[in-house]
Amino acid sequence: MILVTGGAGFIGANFVLDWVASEKSPVANLDKLSYAGNPGNLVSLKQDARHIFVKGDICDRTLVGQLLREHKPAAIVHFAAESHVDRSIHGPAEFVQTNVIGTFSLLEEARAYWSTLAAPEQDRFRFLHVSTDEVYGSLGRDDPAFTESTPYAPNSPYAASKAAADHLVRAYHHTYGLPTITTNCSNNYGPLQFPEKLIPLMIVNAAQGKPLPVYGDGLNVRDWLYVGDHCAAVRLALRRGRPGETYNIGGNSEKTNLEVVNAICAILDEFRPSSLIPHHSSLITYVKDRPGHDRRYAMNAGKMAAELGWQPAERFETGLRRTVEWYLDHMDWVENVTSGAYRNWLHLNYADRGQA
Ligand code: NAD
Ligand code: TYD
Repeated sequence: MILVTGGAGFIGANFVLDWVASEKSPVANLDKLSYAGNPGNLVSLKQDARHIFVKGDICDRTLVGQLLREHKPAAIVHFAAESHVDRSIHGPAEFVQTNVIGTFSLLEEARAYWSTLAAPEQDRFRFLHVSTDEVYGSLGRDDPAFTESTPYAPNSPYAASKAAADHLVRAYHHTYGLPTITTNCSNNYGPLQFPEKLIPLMIVNAAQGKPLPVYGDGLNVRDWLYVGDHCAAVRLALRRGRPGETYNIGGNSEKTNLEVVNAICAILDEFRPSSLIPHHSSLITYVKDRPGHDRRYAMNAGKMAAELGWQPAERFETGLRRTVEWYLDHMDWVENVTSGAYRNWLHLNYADRGQA
């Protein structure tokens, strides 16, 4: 048994589905079902006894302690987080609560549970903390990619809250010997991503003939990784990663935001030719920039390759096509997740940006 947190969100749900498809051991999935968590992501596991869903908060230490004693997991894989930079700018408190206090609560309960295990189980136990490249700050155009020894320099409240969590995880290994592993990954894309992040937002807006809001000059660079490749990397790090270590995971696929949006538009021109919108790129609208917007992220994933033999399997071009196809085929899923609360968010984030 493993305990996954945040397994109803984008990456967590892909991880749980992948785990059940390829591993024998069952998964307990603790998720509070925030706006980003959707039990519909796991509907295919409804009849599968190897998936146990628990609705709850990682900050609820009584619940976490009970779950650990009841299920006796061999590992915790910790995805649960507030994950959207723009939301962290509008409301950082939730980010400190879940990402910092939540991770602390989980670490405390994990430590208490781990200390009751016999020595061989203690050695085998893993606390795998899923983190981000954003903890390293922003790169200049010609700077080398982030490595595991790049100093932390988080710039957004989201990045700072993840950095704080990473430091706590590190300290629990150093001080108490808890067998932790931290993975820092670049931007993910793929099925089941909530349409507030760049790629799904642009696909959904373009499919609906709505403006495509590009922040600033659109030349910020992100290193894109297909979500299935991230899940495979996490499984590998869980199995073969060394306790106390951190591993950078990246797609080796740096793109400007404009390149990404134009690529989505070209795929839609092909899949959804329309006389009203012959070129979906005509929907691109430059809007006011994000405050403190990091210019460039790039990951050096050489340690994952050298130590664990991991490489991304999906190329950006093919992964993006698969992703656009998935969204076009699942507009009912999009309808379900884009509730009134989603429309309120669009208003809060985009109404005052105007055109740049
Ligand atoms: P997401 O926002 O799609 O999902 C987060 C999930 O966590 C949701 O299901 C939500 O309900 C749950 N959750 C939130 N607060 C909770 C709490 N207090 N208790 C229990 N559950 C809670 O996020 P995602 O994009 O799937 O990201 C998952 C993890 O991966 C995060 O830790 C994020 O920092 C990290 N990460 C994401 C990316 C990316 O590109 N999306 C890249 C690198 C790292
Ligand atoms: P996002 O998906 O929010 O991920 P992150 O900020 O964590 O990297 O944004 C990716 C990039 O896309 C980032 O440079 C901000 C930009 N962006 C836009 O230009 N317009 C948008 O509407 C959104 C959501 C993001």
